[in-house]
This record gives sequence, C-alpha cells and structure tokens, in this order.
Amino acid sequence: MGERERWGTRVGLILAMAGNAVGLGNFLRFPVQAAQNGGGAFMIPYFICFLLLGIPMMWVEWSIGRHGGRYGHSSTPGMLQRIWDNPAAKYVGVIGLFLPLIVMTYYTYIESWSLGYTFFTAFGSYWGAPEFEPMVNFLRSYHGYTGLDLTAPGVGDVGISYFSSVAPAYAFFVITLLVNIWILSKGVSGGIEAIAKIAMPALLIFAVILVIRVLTLGTPDGAFPDNNVSAGMGFVWNPVPEALSSSSVWLAAAGQVFFTLSLGMGSIHCYASYLRENDDVALTGLTTAATNEFAEVVLGGTLAIPAAVAYFGLERTQELAQSGFDLAFAVMPTLFQQIPGGQLFGSLWFALLFFAGITSSLAMGQPIMAFLQEEFGLSRKRSAVVLGGIIFLLCQPVILFNQQGFLGEFDFWAGTFGLVLFATIEIILFAWVFGMDNAWAALTDGADMRVPRGYRYIIQYVTPAMLLIILGTWLFGTLPPVLANEPSALYPNGPAPENIPFINAARLSMIGVYVGLCLALTWALKSRKATS
Ligand code: ALA
Repeated sequence: MGERERWGTRVGLILAMAGNAVGLGNFLRFPVQAAQNGGGAFMIPYFICFLLLGIPMMWVEWSIGRHGGRYGHSSTPGMLQRIWDNPAAKYVGVIGLFLPLIVMTYYTYIESWSLGYTFFTAFGSYWGAPEFEPMVNFLRSYHGYTGLDLTAPGVGDVGISYFSSVAPAYAFFVITLLVNIWILSKGVSGGIEAIAKIAMPALLIFAVILVIRVLTLGTPDGAFPDNNVSAGMGFVWNPVPEALSSSSVWLAAAGQVFFTLSLGMGSIHCYASYLRENDDVALTGLTTAATNEFAEVVLGGTLAIPAAVAYFGLERTQELAQSGFDLAFAVMPTLFQQIPGGQLFGSLWFALLFFAGITSSLAMGQPIMAFLQEEFGLSRKRSAVVLGGIIFLLCQPVILFNQQGFLGEFDFWAGTFGLVLFATIEIILFAWVFGMDNAWAALTDGADMRVPRGYRYIIQYVTPAMLLIILGTWLFGTLPPVLANEPSALYPNGPAPENIPFINAARLSMIGVYVGLCLALTWALKSRKATS
C-alpha cells in the first residue's frame, strides 16, 4: 500500500471535521426534536447531554482514531483491536462500518431531495400553491407515494403539477451518489478536504443570510399578531424545568447529541486517523463540537421553527413539525411562496441543506473506503466504485419502499439506536479495557489545551454510566414494543399491517449487511494470512 493519506492543513482538517458533524441533523432533526419535546424545555437536557456525553465521546473517538492511525488503521475493526487485544475486537469494530454504511444509504437519498428542491425552488416548480397541503402532496408525490388525495379539501385548484412517479427523485439520487463517490475517489486531502473548504464557508454565508431574513420577518400578518418571529424564538429558547423529569425528553436529547455530532458512527475516528502522530486531538475535537453546536443551536434553531411560527403560529407549527422532512420540504416551501424574494431564499435554504448533507455523507463513506483499501488492498478509485455499488443497491428498497417504512427503519435502528450501542461499547473498551491511564495519554498527548482533569472522571465513570442507563432504557423500554409491532416510539399507532413484511425485510437486510461485512472481514483476514 502507498503512503498513508493525511490532512493537508489544520484549517482544512477543522473544516472537514465540522463538515462531518454539521449536517441535515442540525437543520432538520434539531428543530423538530426541539418542537416535539417542549421547545426551550429541550435545551436543558440537551446541553447537559452535550457536556457529559457529547464532548467526552468526541474526545474518545478522536483519541481512538489518532491512536489507530498510528498503526495504519482508518476504520474501527483495526482501531478497536489496538485498544482491545482480542479476536472479537475486529468484529465489534465492524459495527463502525455497518452504521455509516446504512446511515449513508438513506442520508444520501435525503441529501438528494435537497438537491432536487434547490432546482424546483429556483425554477418555481411548485409556485402558485402557498399552502401546506399541496406542498405535502408535492413532497409525497416526489417520493413516489401512491394513494394520495391530490385534491386536498380547501385547497382548490392548486395549479402545480405533482410527480407521477419516483423517477425524478431517483435521478437526483443517482447524481448525488455519483458526486459523493467522485469526491471520495479524490482522497482525503484532494477530495474531502478540498470540498469542505468550499462547502463550509458557503454554508455559513447561506445560513447567515437566511437567519437575517428570518429575524426580519417580524409579524407577517397583522391579523394574527401572535404569529411572529419573537414567539418562535421564545418557543425554541424559554426553558420549562418540568421537562427535566421526562425520560423521553432525555432520550431525545441524548439521541440528538449523538446524531448531530456524528458520534457512535465510526466516521469521527476515521477522520482523526489521518492526523499526524502528535497532532492535537483535544482542542480540535472541542472546536469541532463547538462549531457544530453553533451551527445547530444558533443557526439551525433560528431558521425553520421561528420562520414557521411567524407564518403558522405556535400550535400549528407543533402539529406540522411532526417530521423534519415535512418541516423542511413542505412547511418551508409554503412560506417561501409568501416571502418577497422567496425563490432566492428558498434556493439558498435547499442549497444549504445540500452542502450540510454532502460534507456529512462523505464522512460516512470514508470509513468504508478505508476498510476496502486497508483490508482488501483495493485502490482508492476501486474502493469508491465498490462503495458506490453497495450504496446504490442498498438504496433501492429505501427509494421504492419509503412509504412502507424502509427509510424510517434504517434511521431508527442504525441512525438512532445503533449510535448509542456503539458509543457504549467504545467508551467501555477505551476507558476500562485499554485502561484510563492509556486513554488519558491518548487524549492529552500533543494537546494544544489543558483538558480539565474532571473529564478524566467523566470519561471513566459518568459517560459510561449515562450510556448504560440510556442503553438499558432502549433495550427494556423502547425496543420491545417496536419488535412486537405494537404502538411504540417508532410507530405511535403501531405499524400498518400491510407494511409489516416491508419492515421485516428492512430489519433482515440490516442483519444481512452486518453479517456480510463480518464475512468480508474474515475472508480478508484469511487471505492475508495465506499470503504472508
Ligand atoms: N452529524 C451529521 C448530521 O448532523 C450526521 O447530520
């Protein structure tokens, strides 16, 4: 294998890492979590989870990544073996390939919607129907849903054409996937870092323009004086202490911290492995986390929800924001049609989502690239083609059976539960098996800041204890009704009976992917032994 890949510059590394973390989660998932969990009430558990789970796990993953990188590993099977000398370590590490692969599959598809909507907005494809119902229908028809009532009551003749098949969504997905694969084939510094240097500043500029626009919306309709931006900001920010006693709010807060920081996913480790041996991980890790929080709370928190409250009022916003997808792709298009210059602002909004998305999906693809290069000796280009092929295949049911719950299943098991599971395993291996002295050295070697000593105890005791409690709540509270097809966190009214075969197929396919990755690893290990 050739010379090990490295980041080109520290600024490039920070932008790439920020790009890894700042994603659709900041702009789609966060506002919805805030809206569904009591607005400002959500912020207290959220910040506590950020301090006690987010920052420590960020440091843990940077440290495991740099440590593994010293031995030439950029994917978690090799990295975990370096901190746990046991044959099982590599197979546990496969979770850090499985999760980014599954999340990348559906994430790239969502990212492709934002690419599509950038064009639809710029060309005014849905203009002329400034109401929520036609916008939801536009979205569902884009997703190829059948059985839609396209004459939604009260909307009248909306004058826009809906999609008659999923083909346009499919085309935008293929374009998005090809762009991802092309960038990954250019390598860490020549591809990921180069794109981050353009996409991250662009994202910031777009977000600031949009934030200014939202903050100057005032009270759009004098007939509804309560529907204004200040009410929206208040809703996101006023803390309601009662939420502190609700376990579901805590679970939601922890889940959001994980998803938004890309923790428990295998991708932070991978990026950190391209550091040089003594590069700092403490300050850069903290900078990544802080940048993400700025993008999430300050920018993400000021966009969709306050804008929606200004136009729809508090109650209706809570109703409409049941899903991040509806908020971003139906509520926002409704109000863009009511704002002067809406086509421009709308295009910026979707371009912002696309840039946020692509810098994160690249980070999910890179661990698989590294795995293919390291374990199978494939070239970068070949690895990119193989990854592209796998994602393309896996995404077929996600696109074709989205309505039947495929995407939701992938997001629930891999993008939510999986992150908590892998993070719990990692921190126990790092703090307890590798040992806290080694762990602390792995974090503080070459550090450009003094890591507060209290974090040694947090990493050793507090974070693992919190994670075990969260994992226990998942295993004994959240998952049983989901598995029994009863009303649950995933399906509040229980899954529709006709969707159950699809749901089972989604679960089986995930098991198949994990087993397939383990077999691939075994095969690679065996063939390497045979040739050495
Ligand atoms: N951290 C990425 C996001 O927020 C995955 O979307």
